Amino acid sequence: VDRLTSEVAEWLVSEAGLEAVAAASTRLRGGAGALAVASSLRQELGDPDRVSAVLGAAEARLRSVRDREQADLLLFTRESLEQASAAAVSRWRARRFSEQDVWDLCAGCGGDTMALAAVARSVTAVEWDPGRSVLLRHNLEVLGLIATVVTADALQVRPPAHCLVHVDPARRRDGRRVRRLAETVPSVPALVARHGAARGLGIVLSPALDHDDPDHPPDAEVEYLQLGNDLVEAVAWQGALRAEGASATATLLPAGVQRSRRGPRPPRLAVAKLGTHLLEVAPAAVRARLHDDLGGEIGAKRIAARRALLTTEGRPPSSPWYRARPVLAVLPARAKQVRGWLRHEDPGEIEIALHGVSLDPERWWREIGRPPRGPGGIRLELTRLDEGTVVIVTDGSLGDVGPGPSS
Ligand SMILES: C[S@@+](CC[C@H](N)C(=O)[O-])C[C@H]1O[C@@H](n2cnc3c(N)ncnc32)[C@H](O)[C@@H]1O
Repeated sequence: VDRLTSEVAEWLVSEAGLEAVAAASTRLRGGAGALAVASSLRQELGDPDRVSAVLGAAEARLRSVRDREQADLLLFTRESLEQASAAAVSRWRARRFSEQDVWDLCAGCGGDTMALAAVARSVTAVEWDPGRSVLLRHNLEVLGLIATVVTADALQVRPPAHCLVHVDPARRRDGRRVRRLAETVPSVPALVARHGAARGLGIVLSPALDHDDPDHPPDAEVEYLQLGNDLVEAVAWQGALRAEGASATATLLPAGVQRSRRGPRPPRLAVAKLGTHLLEVAPAAVRARLHDDLGGEIGAKRIAARRALLTTEGRPPSSPWYRARPVLAVLPARAKQVRGWLRHEDPGEIEIALHGVSLDPERWWREIGRPPRGPGGIRLELTRLDEGTVVIVTDGSLGDVGPGPSS
């Protein structure tokens, strides 16, 4: 599917192709298996490339239906849907391009292009894969959105000087997730060399990017985006797209709560003994290295020098930036002790959380003789402290302080 030729793509967007996709998605939604659908498609259509294109598009519709209201009108290949950001994330990123002329490079089948076209003054989308370009044009058209689609190499085009540039390079190479900025397709250094002088440049990156990667875009604000509890991506903003003076930003979606660092990083919080509450800072804030700022504001301390887990003496104020749980006990990280505590206290639901500890949770469950039944009850937080690993028992059933990062 993902080597969709322009001929097959042109057929897919024709009346016959769209009917075949609609029928296949109805069957899949009704519970038919992909193999059964593929086999009847083979009989109806013959051509294996068309069969695979229809099946891929139908499966993509099924997968995106919760995320995209108009999923049933859109055409993605399986891989191009996996590469697209969640619609809420694309919409959030697009806000910085409102009322501007923008070039969307590496546009795929248009997840971002659609969000940009809804708010920008004009959009030129560039995708080098001819088949994806055809689906991209279709997706814009069915939503009544206007953008110019160019089938070209993002490293060859030259957007006019007044335009802003948005680029979402592929983060997988030969099916494997890449870690280094030099390995994305196209590579980040090549994109910066070609488009770094644009009036504004936004490059979508992996949230796991290494802060010390030598190809880190220069003079950029890096925004870390969290959707619900998941850290989903980072964006390097340069030039006019960079928020003034900001070097790192954490954003919580869908709420749209945001905080940035301007100026130097404050000193690390002091390490202190565990107080009455354990605070887990939202991952976007940890990646943006804002946890010392956040903790400093509420008098929190770190529980270990190299851990972004904080503690307070007394209940901290409510905040979307951390979850705070009362500490019930601190136990040695030995199954026997934990088993004893559980037998004595007899809590209902329990769950396990690992902080900097690499062990097999299933083995632990077997050893303590209790399967996980959380979330929402007692949490056994296996935590590596400076002096060794402990189990911090916290209570989630009393409700986290603060609405939590997902609300
Ligand atoms: C991560 S996907 C983009 C997803 C897209 N932003 C969306 O929201 O649907 C990256 C895309 O870049 C395209 N691509 C990779 N290298 C390219 C290049 N040099 N020029 C143009 N497109 C390229 C790939 O074909 C792929 O469709």
